[in-house]
Amino acid sequence: MRLLLINGPNLNLLGQREPSIYGSQTLESIETELKKKALTEGVQLDSFQSNFEGALIDRIQKAVKEVDGILINAGAYTHTSIALRDALVGVEIPYVELHLSNTHAREQFRHSSFLSDNAVGVISGFGAMSYHLALQGLLAHLRKTV
Ligand code: DQA
Repeated sequence: MRLLLINGPNLNLLGQREPSIYGSQTLESIETELKKKALTEGVQLDSFQSNFEGALIDRIQKAVKEVDGILINAGAYTHTSIALRDALVGVEIPYVELHLSNTHAREQFRHSSFLSDNAVGVISGFGAMSYHLALQGLLAHLRKTV
């Protein structure tokens, strides 16, 4: 099985960006940990980060017939991007939406998501652990154990 982890804008700054909200772990370290965990499950996990909406869409389109599932933290594009939503719906690859922070406990503009209603599930508010919970949930979904 092959999965893809996608991170959107500003998530390359994890570790230094608003650590009281997003924690002190870097994206690189989260990716390394998650890839290790995936391997113990016999799964290959690739990762991609971009600050550009079009680059994220290109990567999602490229994933067709390549990956079985997607983990996505789309950052602020979660709340703004119909184009990203259309890409995810279009490729018909099951995905889990995830966030480090609990977006519902923050500003009103973070309460809505263009991605949630089409997602397998949404994980929000557990810091770096959100990535691990999202992986666990996506695997259970793909293996039909939930
Ligand atoms: C985020 C939440 C978004 O509202 C924000 O724009 C981000 C990060 C999170 O992981 O908590 O960039 O997706």
